[in-house]
Amino acid sequence: MRLGIIGAMVEEITPLLEKFGEHKKIQVGGNTYYEITKGVHKIFIAYSKIGKVHAALTVSTMILHFQCEKIIFSGVAGGLNADLKVGDLLLAEKLCQHDVDITAFGHPLGFIPESKVYIEADKNLNALAKQVAKAQGIDLQQGIIASGDAFIADSEKKQWIISNFKADAVEMEGASVAVVCDLLQVPFCVLRSISDSADGSADVSFDEFLESSAKRSAEFVLKMCESLLEA
Ligand code: ADE
Repeated sequence: MRLGIIGAMVEEITPLLEKFGEHKKIQVGGNTYYEITKGVHKIFIAYSKIGKVHAALTVSTMILHFQCEKIIFSGVAGGLNADLKVGDLLLAEKLCQHDVDITAFGHPLGFIPESKVYIEADKNLNALAKQVAKAQGIDLQQGIIASGDAFIADSEKKQWIISNFKADAVEMEGASVAVVCDLLQVPFCVLRSISDSADGSADVSFDEFLESSAKRSAEFVLKMCESLLEA
């Protein structure tokens, strides 16, 4: 199998690279792709840089250039649901773009003609994630992730995203990965560990917990890889 693993920031992929060890480095479109060989399998790891456009380029490159057959996104997110605390792990059931607005033409918020507001993650990858969580005794929550090209650090904006999208967490890449994978028919899942609560103290919390929460998500993805690449 050819598996692609993406983070947005270097902190989100460093724990994976440390674990996998030896790799080949390939540059495409301003990003470094780390190619790892594990028996008959190839794993491609990259950080995209922050935001939906960068993530869309990286996932497209993973699929169209490196022929990845499955995509896992790993990283941190801001918690919207009060049940989500720093360090908690969230698996996206579906993802949406909170910054898409063509309501001026009568469309619902988050909707683009010929697309849809919510894109569902792959059922099999999500089932595997749940299975791994159960086997390891890890508490894995599930919910809706809203993505947009803004770091949310404001309670009013946070409430707006909750009211309009019923989202449990917010980040800046997941939905663009979802759109690309959905259109190219490549199974994907998005895992995030909470770094902040998307409120007035989000910037301070993010700086404090980026590394530890990114590691938490990456370590979970490594466990998924063990199952995925067993053969
Ligand atoms: N990623 C982590 N925290 C975030 C936040 N508050 N807003 C957007 N993306 C994030």
